[in-house]
Amino acid sequence: TKGPYEHYMLKEIHEQPALVDKLAAFYIKNEGRKELDSLKGFKAPAWHLTACGTAWHAGLVIKNYFEQINRQRADVDIASEFRYREPILNKGEVGLFISQSGETADTLACQELCKEKGIETFSIVNTEGSTLFRNSDKNFLIHAGVEIGVASTKAFTLQALTGYLMSRAMEGTLDDPKLFSEIQLLSNRIGELCAQSDSLKEVAEKIYTKKGFIFTGRGKYFPIALEGALKLKEIAYVHAEGYAAGELKHGPIALIDENIVNIAVVGPELLEKTVSNVEEVKARRGIMVVVGPKNSPEIEHLADAYIPLDFNGLPNLSPLYVNVALQFLAYHIAKLKGTDIDKPRNLAKSVTVE
Ligand code: F6R
Repeated sequence: TKGPYEHYMLKEIHEQPALVDKLAAFYIKNEGRKELDSLKGFKAPAWHLTACGTAWHAGLVIKNYFEQINRQRADVDIASEFRYREPILNKGEVGLFISQSGETADTLACQELCKEKGIETFSIVNTEGSTLFRNSDKNFLIHAGVEIGVASTKAFTLQALTGYLMSRAMEGTLDDPKLFSEIQLLSNRIGELCAQSDSLKEVAEKIYTKKGFIFTGRGKYFPIALEGALKLKEIAYVHAEGYAAGELKHGPIALIDENIVNIAVVGPELLEKTVSNVEEVKARRGIMVVVGPKNSPEIEHLADAYIPLDFNGLPNLSPLYVNVALQFLAYHIAKLKGTDIDKPRNLAKSVTVE
């Protein structure tokens, strides 16, 4: 049941803090530990991450972990592209498939392809016993419980977190006490967002009638820009696209006028670079919403709305935290528009045909 929540999506967003804590305990301290320990020192010449939609965005987050923490090459593909592009797959490489349902047709076809080429296949999956689960050499369950809202929320967070734990397992640092406290901090910060969701509603009220939304992010926040845009278009039926912040002037800036909102996701890392982006959008009368570090007067005063977040202590996990703010924003915009949030038109929870 939905309990006190108006929609399953809202309930599932609120479940995230507890699920994050549970997953960390499972993989670091309890039964899941032996599965992760099997990755200790593991090195593949290349990882091929493949998924669709939101799970693909989680793959983009995980790629950054494998490359930056483990210095291992990781390619990420949209499953419907990978299966037809004759990918180069060599012995020793690993296919990593990310899926909530474990039944997505394109993702399963990619797994078949990897198997035909004789490479190992691993999964990050929610549904135990699903086709993907049954056909994988190794499974890393995300333990999200049933996700009913068609728009995926908690599955994304837990997929990305599982990928992070895999990365730390390969590095051999699962016993680092800082890891556990970092994940606890993530859970606390998501909890704070859940408690302050009304302030995100106020931002939604300012922008929900606008015609188009361009989400921008750099580096580790680029996948979050993509995911924020996907969530919004799925449930609010407005045009939304995610862009790498540096690409704004290479095309999408042509769209900017008073009917367009730029939602910029900015970490403390590259704050100054974003100031000029914001100025460019404002100069064209665009509406600027910035999701960024709290106490950043240099950028706050430029924005039409500022969503202040506390990035401290989350060097690796901040994308997962920021994403929850965008989940709430999409939810509140959709609610103001009166759409069917849990069952958006034209969408199915699991896409089992090509
Ligand atoms: C987005 C969404 C879809 C799924 C995609 C993959 O909110 O729900 O984009 O993420 O269809 O589904 P799974 O993860 O079941 O393979």
